[in-house]
Amino acid sequence: MAVIAGNWKMHMGVADTRAFFAALTLQEGAGGNELLIFPPAVSLGAAATCPERDPRIQLGAQNIHWQDGGAFTGETSAAMACEAGASHVLVGHSERRHVFGETNEEVALKVAAGCRHGLVPVVCVGETLSERQDGRVDEVILAQLDAALEVLDGDDQRFMVAYEPVWAIGTGETATPDDAANAHRTLRTRLEAVLGIAAAVRTPILYGGSVKPANAAELLSASEVDGVLVGGASLDPQSFAEIAATGR
Ligand code: 13P
Repeated sequence: MAVIAGNWKMHMGVADTRAFFAALTLQEGAGGNELLIFPPAVSLGAAATCPERDPRIQLGAQNIHWQDGGAFTGETSAAMACEAGASHVLVGHSERRHVFGETNEEVALKVAAGCRHGLVPVVCVGETLSERQDGRVDEVILAQLDAALEVLDGDDQRFMVAYEPVWAIGTGETATPDDAANAHRTLRTRLEAVLGIAAAVRTPILYGGSVKPANAAELLSASEVDGVLVGGASLDPQSFAEIAATGR
């Protein structure tokens, strides 16, 4: 069983969302995987109510605010995301951190808000190229993970971690299966230390960064890689279907 998640980023309005689900045919093999799509907030409702969406595909929000409501122009609360049909939420995606300046503290507040409303947080972590060149991969990703772990609502709170090295996102550069396995082991070891072995084993750690049909099987076969978080290749129903049918 693998988790296959598609992050649509700022693509796919309502019409494109409906067309995607109408065109998507899940192949044999997809049935054994947990499938997730993260549409933009304005398309969540359309995805949730789209009669052609295979109900095995769960939905998530790409971002939430940590407050439950108020004067926060342009933001979406966890409760609103739930009402629109989300069961999961991406928190701390690298574009949120590096383009919009989100800090580990803000990410933690968002994880807490997601937990309060029953959303499964998918906590994204990952180093930049310069942090990697400086030998700081473990330091950076553990600080990002620790901030989120501090606010988890008990050891049995369901959540996922997504390791997305920033230099591999949207660049066509993919981490090698060994790079991914090393970072995932670092993260799993921290989960074991903080939450205990049982919780660490049941917490999926996904890899993201230029995943496509041609490399999904190799990445999913790397040790400690429980799933993939796919950006660009999740926009096309055919390529998402191919990745969704990949097992581990
Ligand atoms: P790409 O697959 O387009 O590199 O994006 C990865 C990503 O950021 C998924 O969240």
